[in-house]
Amino acid sequence: MSPSVLLGITGGIAAYKTPWLVRLLTQSDMDVRCVLTQAATQFVTPLTLATVSNNPVHYDMWANRDRPGVEHIALADEVDVAVIAPATANVIGKLAAGIADDLLTTVFTAVRCPVLICPAMNVNMFRNPIVQRNINTLRELGWNILEPAAGWLACGWVGEGRMPEPEVIAEEIRRLLTPADLAGERILVTAGPTEEPLDPVRFITNRSSGKMGVAIAQRAAMRGADVTLVAGPLKVQAPQWVTHIPVRTAQEMYDRVMERFPDVDVVIKAAAVADFRPGNSTLEKLEKSNIRPTIEVVPNPDILMTLGGLKRDDQVLVGFAAETTDVLRKGRGKLKAKNLDMLVLNDVTKPGAGFDCDTNIVRFLHRSGEEEQMDIMPKEQVADLILDRVKALRKGLVS
Ligand code: C5P
Repeated sequence: MSPSVLLGITGGIAAYKTPWLVRLLTQSDMDVRCVLTQAATQFVTPLTLATVSNNPVHYDMWANRDRPGVEHIALADEVDVAVIAPATANVIGKLAAGIADDLLTTVFTAVRCPVLICPAMNVNMFRNPIVQRNINTLRELGWNILEPAAGWLACGWVGEGRMPEPEVIAEEIRRLLTPADLAGERILVTAGPTEEPLDPVRFITNRSSGKMGVAIAQRAAMRGADVTLVAGPLKVQAPQWVTHIPVRTAQEMYDRVMERFPDVDVVIKAAAVADFRPGNSTLEKLEKSNIRPTIEVVPNPDILMTLGGLKRDDQVLVGFAAETTDVLRKGRGKLKAKNLDMLVLNDVTKPGAGFDCDTNIVRFLHRSGEEEQMDIMPKEQVADLILDRVKALRKGLVS
């Protein structure tokens, strides 16, 4: 059954962005019910919201004359997550004080599911100590607060107070709907290509987009893990909620991963690390007349191989291998040579697999010798399957 989201909309200018938020949620197969304050109806029409949500919109406490007072309890009872976006200082204050004097505040006083509040207001209102105290009251009572973004505000001021973009709110809602089965796990993911400089403007790299590693980091964070993402230059955005450590070269990736390795439970190395770097990169741009016909290369450190040697018994190590020939034999060799718990193998010559696409076709090679061939599927789904196996491995090690 589709998860049910209650979207409360209050009377701030950012309410004009809420039909787009509703669209994003319905596209993710959520059933959205909107409840508005009277002021909100001045900024966005109930008709628009009813059309995009494909549900009746609620804003009048006395609309249902036959069964007055029942509607708000029914609305509050039926939802999996309840969100207020935008949330004005007024409504935040009322909810923090337990005041329920219209349909929206009455419904939100009755909900028992996870709640997400997205404050949006003028920067000086947001910084007002009374507003801050009220936000903290809600936070301490277990409600989730999505901090407003900083930037240009409709009132002409610049500062914090902007409602986060609908895409950000939708991701946060998806996270609240996802069971936190990886809570307590500290997972380090590497992603993307590395860039190995020839001179200050030129470099050697590969076709990795970072999509696979980013999908793993994103799903792990959504499932409650504490995620660090050490990534080369990504073609996609780094996910919310992760500690993103951007790097360029394999050596930088090596340094950042080694610093953190003792403090993590799991490492998933999805990065396409360059095996070699130019041996004599220059600090000044090479002149055309000086460019030699051959580039001498020296090997980069193999990060995963080093981790395999250092790994504690309670740590799980997952590697990737992208191959074009003799795929299985090479994959099995790497699993052993690098002392991995699992290797995710893909034949990048297959359409729909490997670099820079949204799907992947993988085979899991386990330390035990067991192997699992997966069908073509979105990288997000591959990420979840990898994390399911990581979870089982960790359970076996720590219990
Ligand atoms: O040996 P190969 O490069 O195919 O192994 C791929 C796996 O090893 C990936 O998980 C990749 O992130 C990792 N790797 C590494 N350091 C390197 C090269 C690859 O950690 N220098």
